[in-house]
Amino acid sequence: MRKQLENLQSQALEEVERASSAHELEEIRVKILGKKGMLTHLLRGLKDVADAERPELGTIANVLKETFNAALAARMQVLQHQEMQDRLASERIDVSLPGRVPHGGGLHPVRQALTEMIEIFLQMGFPAMSGPEVESDWHNFGALNIPPDHPAREMHDTFYLHPGRDGKQRVLRTHTSPVQIRVMESQKPPIRVIAPGKVYRCDSDLTHTPMFHQVEGLLVDRDVHFGQLMGFIETFLRRFFERQLPVRFRPSFFPFTEPSTEVDMGCLFCEGSGCRICKGSGWIEILGAGLVHPNVLGNVGIDKEMYSGFAFGVGVERMAMLKYGIGDLRTFYENDVRFLAHHARGRGV
Ligand code: PHE
Repeated sequence: MRKQLENLQSQALEEVERASSAHELEEIRVKILGKKGMLTHLLRGLKDVADAERPELGTIANVLKETFNAALAARMQVLQHQEMQDRLASERIDVSLPGRVPHGGGLHPVRQALTEMIEIFLQMGFPAMSGPEVESDWHNFGALNIPPDHPAREMHDTFYLHPGRDGKQRVLRTHTSPVQIRVMESQKPPIRVIAPGKVYRCDSDLTHTPMFHQVEGLLVDRDVHFGQLMGFIETFLRRFFERQLPVRFRPSFFPFTEPSTEVDMGCLFCEGSGCRICKGSGWIEILGAGLVHPNVLGNVGIDKEMYSGFAFGVGVERMAMLKYGIGDLRTFYENDVRFLAHHARGRGV
């Protein structure tokens, strides 16, 4: 038994020295001192040895246990120190590396253009109102002097909804002009308002998306005339593009305005000499406008002898493309993060 204890001691100490991790040390401890450990097993045999030998063997076993424990603790310290050194070496931080800045959010270019337009119009005395995107046929067409079966309806590729419980036809508004009607139904002149928002047309190609944004403008007062409309639009364009560019008013047709005009602005990119963006003409079409048609005033019960008005509708995507130099309409809605990050304003704030 003495021999066995001595052997065990040298074996245990040797294994402790060889252990290369804290985990391994714990396994050795269990192997020797655990309930089914080798020393525990030997000690169980003590009861079978002669009485005279037992005390001495007991002492030897105790010494073995103490020596073993001390060796374990010493080795543990060495290993822990070494593990710490290894970690320090492998996890060294290079404080000279540039920091990683988290991606911040930012405004989509369409939202930026919209916000700037709303701000300019507000400074010019036109507060913003909104109207529903699901509209009645009356507000989107009828009240705007576009009766059923009128060829002017063909100008818009309309998304029609299933008729509601009241049997009435509803549409996704094809322009923001129905908000003109809603405002004139609920307010008495003088009226000054803009209506920014989403509009929908069943149309999708290089230069059309089925959803886009417009800002509508409406002024109704006594003695409103075309010259005021012209001055108003010139002022707005100058403020939005922060440049003085030539503006021209071409005769056009909208059922809800008379006379009607389409407004062109000197090309921002070539300043009139002709380029790819303006298709060589030197002019870029910006918006539609006109004096409110007397029939429209009549439809909302405004005295057309006493009042007149002007109205305009401008496409927001168009304005954003021109102002921020974005060449392809579709990039607005592809949600390519590189595009969004490039044009986002207010990042990291
Ligand atoms: N609603 C017209 C469009 O979407 C634009 C417009 C608005 C024209 C107001 C005249 C007056 O094309």
